[in-house]
Amino acid sequence: MHRFTDKVVLITGATGGIGSATVRRLAAEGARLALTDLAEDAGEFLSTLEVPSGEMAYWSADLTDEHQVKAVFGKVAERFGRLDVLINIAGYDHDNGVALDRLDEANFEKNIAVNLKTAYLCCLEAARLMRTRKAGAIVNMSSLTWRGSPMQFTYSAAKGGVATLTRSLALALGPEGIRVNAVAPALVEVEAITRIVPAAQWEQVRKGIGGTYPLRRIGQPDDIAGPVAFLASDDACFVTGQILEITGGARL
Ligand SMILES: NC(=O)c1ccc[n+]([C@@H]2O[C@H](COP(=O)([O-])OP(=O)(O)OC[C@H]3O[C@@H](n4cnc5c(N)ncnc54)[C@H](O)[C@@H]3O)[C@@H](O)[C@H]2O)c1
Repeated sequence: MHRFTDKVVLITGATGGIGSATVRRLAAEGARLALTDLAEDAGEFLSTLEVPSGEMAYWSADLTDEHQVKAVFGKVAERFGRLDVLINIAGYDHDNGVALDRLDEANFEKNIAVNLKTAYLCCLEAARLMRTRKAGAIVNMSSLTWRGSPMQFTYSAAKGGVATLTRSLALALGPEGIRVNAVAPALVEVEAITRIVPAAQWEQVRKGIGGTYPLRRIGQPDDIAGPVAFLASDDACFVTGQILEITGGARL
């Protein structure tokens, strides 16, 4: 089934763990791909990517910077002439595991910028492009921590902000035919984690945390890509303002 044939889809955080799985999923479903990430050279990833639509562009940008965000959306408009779907995946946790009394302001600002400001700036630019056609779908990346997390204070606050931003935008943009949803995954195994956590320690975390989830495992990037594709597709044409938790049943 090619749900994205002829659709122009912009994906941020495109070369990361969840981002690259989402790019592959949308590519396989026929999307015309506009991709962006921090990396100046994404050649290695792009060379392994199969794009049946034959249309793919990649631009590097730091999406915490409004000028760079505007430049990316300007290039999308120039190259593709429209935008049907925005999938905002860029993000990072600069404070993971830091206790309340050891938090510092710089990390607070980084987490708000990388997780909330990037989504905010990209949603506003996407709305500008989508409004002209009175149609569009946006999927933002929250996190299960949006419910609160005692060792991820600033990250969870930023991801809570993403959830609320999503609901507010859904209210504002629904009458213009634009749907806005978010996904909120629990722990997902990505290279950004496995390359910094020693293998034996990661195995313990993976089994320990996964063992507490009803489905008895942590997530993989493809577990997230499917629900993201659903929310971005016309299958979800009557779904907006939702925060879809993808968690193997964690924290029910
Ligand atoms: N892995 C998890 O357990 C998990 C769980 C819930 C939510 N998330 C969220 O999923 C998203 C993807 O994370 P991931 O786990 O694939 O990690 P990742 O580090 O592989 O991917 C994050 C991507 O965002 C990009 N990025 C970071 N800052 C940026 C900036 N300023 N401008 C542009 N791009 C930027 C990075 O370059 C990277 O490619 C993030 O928003 C993360 O917070 C991850």
